[in-house]
Amino acid sequence: SSRKLLLLPGDGIGPEAMAEVRKLIAAMNDRLGAGFETEEGLVGGCAYDAHGQAISEDDMAKAMAADAVLFGAVGGPKWDAVPYEMRPEAGLLRLRKDMELFANLRPAICYPALAQSSSLKPEVVEGLDILIIRELTGGVYFGEPKTITDLGNGQKRAIDTQVYDTFEIERISGVAFELARTRRNKVCSMEKRNVMKSGVLWNEVVTATHKAKYPDVELSHMLADAGGMQLVRWPKQFDVIVTDNLFGDMLSDVAAMLTGSLGMLPSASLGAPDAKTGARKALYEPVHGSAPDIAGQGIANPIAMIASFAMCLRYSFGMVPEADRLEKAIAAVLDDGLRTRDILSDGMTDVGTGAMGDAIVEK
Ligand code: NAI
Ligand code: MG
Repeated sequence: SSRKLLLLPGDGIGPEAMAEVRKLIAAMNDRLGAGFETEEGLVGGCAYDAHGQAISEDDMAKAMAADAVLFGAVGGPKWDAVPYEMRPEAGLLRLRKDMELFANLRPAICYPALAQSSSLKPEVVEGLDILIIRELTGGVYFGEPKTITDLGNGQKRAIDTQVYDTFEIERISGVAFELARTRRNKVCSMEKRNVMKSGVLWNEVVTATHKAKYPDVELSHMLADAGGMQLVRWPKQFDVIVTDNLFGDMLSDVAAMLTGSLGMLPSASLGAPDAKTGARKALYEPVHGSAPDIAGQGIANPIAMIASFAMCLRYSFGMVPEADRLEKAIAAVLDDGLRTRDILSDGMTDVGTGAMGDAIVEK
């Protein structure tokens, strides 16, 4: 069976990181007969330069038809003055919206070789492997009304509205329970039911979904602010964390800093399973941006992009042994002392983007 990938490298270091994934795809096709078929598209500033839109209708159609989309990064100072609707980020937002990517997966993994150079105590982060699942299409970022009104007395009033319906909480908690079953079988749900109605419903629906369909998974609940403290104090208590859009945005950034550089962090965004085939639309991207400060120098860390491809193997193609091997290859080159500039420490070997990618392909 063919496996259709759309590659959207984007701007800045996006194309540099994507080049290393292309090497992996070619090696997997040649040596393992993996049967990947790739298409290429433009997103972000480069798409705006080519046709005045952050993503073309043609590339959107390719994204909708692909089994998975690999996305590099978008943006940069060159496009700072571009009109709001056409700014580079609009391409990513359009993809998320049209593909209905409601589940954002942000793993926080601390590779053993990097535990010593973490900003936290090694014993706190060594062996860390947690997965934060953030609801991505609902909540306070999208709820109506969303307004700023002039009250007329020199005062203004800003209103954002948090809205969650049962089905949204059911489907995101379903993803959390299903993925927990493939891991250490534990889910911790975070909300603020003590002060928010949406937190009350979130808690209720997660509990009901658990009871009805996933009673074998261990479920706990935590208030989101306490969850933030626990993430920093003793993150290894968690396996899967599921939370809303706003709390997930912040908690996943907190968790990211447990593991070192932005250049190491992958992510996945998943849609609902197709009613007939069960296949999910999915987009995989590094957490980092286009890093204009280092673009074009061949020094970007490609691991975030490569680890995003590992997530693609795991979640879009069920290639679990291959994903495991790729993640082990990343750990192995780090054990060998290879480091890009962003994760360099004393006594380690400074390598560029291409050499890091080559080493991972060889492993
Ligand atoms: P950034 O993530 O691009 O860079 C932050 C810092 O981390 C920079 O010093 C950069 O050199 C470093 N860094 C990031 N990724 C790295 C890697 N793989 N290897 C080595 N060092 C790395 O965030 P910043 O500077 O806030 O934004 C730059 C541009 O990227 C902006 O135009 C922003 O809008 C865009 N952006 C795009 C995102 C996306 O495409 N999803 C996400 C975040 C920012
Ligand atoms: Mg954020």
